Amino acid sequence: MTRRALELAALGVGLVSPSPLVGCVIVSETGELAGRGTYVYDDVTHAEVLALNEAGKRARGGTAYVSLEPHSYHGRTSPCTEALIEAGIRRVVCPIEDPNPLVSGKGFEQLRARGVEVVTGILKDEARRLNEKFCVWHHFGRPFVHLKLAMSLDGRISLKNSVSTTLSGRESAVRVQNLRHEHDAILVGGNTAFVDNPSLTDRSGKPRRRPLARVVLDNRLRIPMESTLVRTARETPTIVVTNSTDEAKISALTDSGVDVARADSRDLGAVLGELYKRELQSVLVEGGTEVAGAFCDARLVDKLTLIAAPLVIGGREAPAAIGGRGALSLENALKLNDLQVIRHGTDLELTGYPV
Ligand SMILES: NC(=O)c1ccc[n+]([C@@H]2O[C@H](COP(=O)([O-])OP(=O)(O)OC[C@H]3O[C@@H](n4cnc5c(N)ncnc54)[C@H](OP(=O)(O)O)[C@@H]3O)[C@@H](O)[C@H]2O)c1
Repeated sequence: MTRRALELAALGVGLVSPSPLVGCVIVSETGELAGRGTYVYDDVTHAEVLALNEAGKRARGGTAYVSLEPHSYHGRTSPCTEALIEAGIRRVVCPIEDPNPLVSGKGFEQLRARGVEVVTGILKDEARRLNEKFCVWHHFGRPFVHLKLAMSLDGRISLKNSVSTTLSGRESAVRVQNLRHEHDAILVGGNTAFVDNPSLTDRSGKPRRRPLARVVLDNRLRIPMESTLVRTARETPTIVVTNSTDEAKISALTDSGVDVARADSRDLGAVLGELYKRELQSVLVEGGTEVAGAFCDARLVDKLTLIAAPLVIGGREAPAAIGGRGALSLENALKLNDLQVIRHGTDLELTGYPV
């Protein structure tokens, strides 16, 4: 049932940030599945309360399976711990504590103090992964960074001279849209914005609570006024991070609806700080080479996805997927945990978590 609670929580992807994904299942004393709930930010009511409402009297003496520790403070809603206690829930099964310091451990404490049995730890790794963005946000006070790149089998991101090219296939394109859907922001370097003239939108077709914000790192402010990003900045939030003092260009961008964040875009801590200020909980970094290298060098990658197309570009001039300074010894190379390999048509996706 904990797995079912995690599955219910996952239905909130795209609909909860900056809150966590929460799902709840109520099983009655007689073992009957009595209630289910998924938290969706704009509907306000928490998963536990939705599930309790569905269960009604059948909740008394029953078990609540929740994907994340129930909260015990008055926020946008009254405490879920109170709702569970009042409904007569006898046991709460929940894999992990809430990383939010307002809640962490206090929900479990309150339940135990009022005689509710609390079981923790079941599927804890899955539960943490499910809320990985929320966890990084609270643990490190910055957005979760997911670096995603498409490359050839020999690790090239494009043809020589950085010509814009689509390397991966149709199935991978669907995957990329789903990845975008999971994030609050998408980020690229100034060259990619200049060379590719991308739209950087979420075309997954799935509902999202807030539009995907687009971020360009561009100290020299080379982004063209006629680029798609600038032309559509009024419909889709577009943030250009720059330390440029070209006030004429900054005014023109601002007049076009671009949010110009005044920070050194080479300082990735400052860049993430600007996104944090804007309550963007997660960012999908989509390249190019230099920006990918900068995030790896700064050890600011929480998750890495490489999509390899079955082709070899070769040559010395085609850029490698990840630039920057790189590692000078194997000890310093970025090592990945929990590597997953998935096929998308003829492409291979490799996703892992830097140690
Ligand atoms: N296959 C893929 O998945 C994929 C994805 C994206 C792009 N691409 C390709 O990659 C190529 C572009 O890559 P690129 O390496 O030339 O450029 P890039 O990484 O897109 O942009 C690099 C530029 O961004 C600016 N910048 C600002 N802050 C930075 C920071 N913290 N770290 C690094 N750069 C920062 C710098 O210019 P200023 O000094 O002017 O600020 C720098 O020259 C294009 O060919 C594009 O088509 C491929």
